[in-house]
Amino acid sequence: MVVTKHSRPLVVGGEQIEGPYPVYLQGHVQHGFGRGSKELGIPTANLPEDEVHRACKNLKTGVYFGWAQVNDGPVYDMVMSLGWNPYYKNEKLSGEVHICHEFDHDFYGEDLRVVVLGYIRPERDYSSVDALIYDINVDITVAKNSMSRSAYQKFKLSPFFRS
Ligand SMILES: Cc1cc2nc3c(=O)[nH]c(=O)nc-3n(C[C@H](O)[C@H](O)[C@H](O)COP(=O)(O)O)c2cc1C
Repeated sequence: MVVTKHSRPLVVGGEQIEGPYPVYLQGHVQHGFGRGSKELGIPTANLPEDEVHRACKNLKTGVYFGWAQVNDGPVYDMVMSLGWNPYYKNEKLSGEVHICHEFDHDFYGEDLRVVVLGYIRPERDYSSVDALIYDINVDITVAKNSMSRSAYQKFKLSPFFRS
């Protein structure tokens, strides 16, 4: 189904985190198709294929939120798309993490750690690239609102992240 702009809840998940979360993912950042930065203005870091397949054992395809870290840098909010990118009709599963911070460099090959804490929505096809961009920006707002709760904040200090 091709969708256009529609109203969406701006907070998701419960006050407490419930299974299968937290889901921990880690790997060296891979090259994607490069559309995230160029076409969408929303850069994404791609997880390695084996980690994407491991993630799919616990998670259905869709859009998720949580925390992410590159190397031993700060831990930032993240939104992640796990699936087939129906708008682009990808033929390979991907796990793409947008870290909610402006970096002045890309980080291919570097160590990416992600803790997934909740589900936002299914992946969708769109009538235009603008509609996709609009929804990803709503996802970022949903992630920030949802993660402001204390049960979610605690994971920013998880020993999984490097200090
Ligand atoms: C939070 C988030 C939500 C996304 N939602 C969708 C979606 O609903 N449908 C879709 O086709 N692609 C979605 N994408 C994937 C983008 O299409 C993808 O990141 C973009 O094509 C860049 O991929 P590339 O770096 O491999 O070129 C989403 C990406 C992010 C970060």
